[in-house]
Amino acid sequence: MHDLLSDLLARRTPGHSLERPFYTDPAIYAADLENIHYREWLFAIPACQLTKTGAYARVQVGAYNVVLVRGSDGVIRAFHNACRHRGSVICQKDQGTVAKLTCPYHQWTYDLDGRLIWARDMGPDFDPSQHNLKPVHLRELAGLIYICLAEEAPDFDAFADLARPYLDVHDLHRAKVAFSSSIVEKGNWKLVWENNRECYHCAGTHPALSRSFPLDPAVAGVSADGSTPPRLQAHFDKCEAAGAPSRFAMAGFAGQYRLARMPLEEKALSYTMDLQPASKRPLGRVTVPDAGTLLKFHYPTTWNHFLPDISLCFRVTPIGPQETEVTTWWLVDKDAVEGVDYDMKRLTEVWLATNDEDRRIVEDNQLGINSPAYTPGPYSPIMEDGVDQFVGWYVQTMLRAMGPRSVAAE
Ligand code: FES
Ligand SMILES: [Fe+2]
Repeated sequence: MHDLLSDLLARRTPGHSLERPFYTDPAIYAADLENIHYREWLFAIPACQLTKTGAYARVQVGAYNVVLVRGSDGVIRAFHNACRHRGSVICQKDQGTVAKLTCPYHQWTYDLDGRLIWARDMGPDFDPSQHNLKPVHLRELAGLIYICLAEEAPDFDAFADLARPYLDVHDLHRAKVAFSSSIVEKGNWKLVWENNRECYHCAGTHPALSRSFPLDPAVAGVSADGSTPPRLQAHFDKCEAAGAPSRFAMAGFAGQYRLARMPLEEKALSYTMDLQPASKRPLGRVTVPDAGTLLKFHYPTTWNHFLPDISLCFRVTPIGPQETEVTTWWLVDKDAVEGVDYDMKRLTEVWLATNDEDRRIVEDNQLGINSPAYTPGPYSPIMEDGVDQFVGWYVQTMLRAMGPRSVAAE
């Protein structure tokens, strides 16, 4: 499998979609998890989802179930949600609040910092300190929680140092979750990303989003030749003069992450049907009303939109070779009052519709690829440079993680 997959990766035609097995084959899906999701930093949740001591949220990544919990010291930690006795899951619900982490099987009890503090009838030689919950690497970046399942986590600082100034002005420590939604798309996780990385489809697919989000390929794309069109440069300059870092930045191995504050359509101030702010109380300190949206992606799990009034976080979680969960959080200022500062329907309707429209086209894309008649097709050099960039990142990251091909056949 290793050599077969290496060959498939190495023979990819640049500028074209991937061959069929990348979207369908359970063995390649398993290799994706092994080489990408079990190794890279993954966006988990916005920190403001866990407001109180003992609030927890579970995140499933392939075979791993991780629980994130806010401790009595206010710190959010992540643990493998598996008891150190005989392995039962401890937190049985996807989210909730607990005083301690108590295993439902034989009631071994862990403090919120993961220490085993109670286990019945284990004999005089039992050492509880050898049976604390197994921690998962966790980093908080300006109100966004990332985790890493690898034994040794790759560097996070280069990304954090680049992203922090862009994010700081959005004051996510002041945010609250106004709404969240999780949908399952019957498509490979890479198809969800490919769809996200272009707006070639937007005019025909997203009537609500297209009122505010520009169809200009320079907005969704990655500036393949490194240049910035003057109209975007003028927007960056205007926002930066007002203290909001904005210019296009893409970095990390093979372009794993990108930040840029992009203008919305003329007259659009937020993602609403009437183009006016979704919340009257701003979230953050971006003082330019038409600052547009700070676009951030970080492969393989998240894209985000940060606007002067609200922030949106998206998480992409593979479930199976042809199934992916997409979770969306709508964040508003914690003092914003529903019905006064924002209306839930107005706040959520554009992206709820957009997500559903994207689900449908991703599922149609998967169905078409499932046919043996499918062969990789060419990307538009004008509209789909972002898709090519994502697929290039995927191929290079897989090849790097898999290491050199074996010399002799086994
Ligand atoms: S498996 Fe958790 S207490 Fe026994
Ligand atoms: Fe879309």
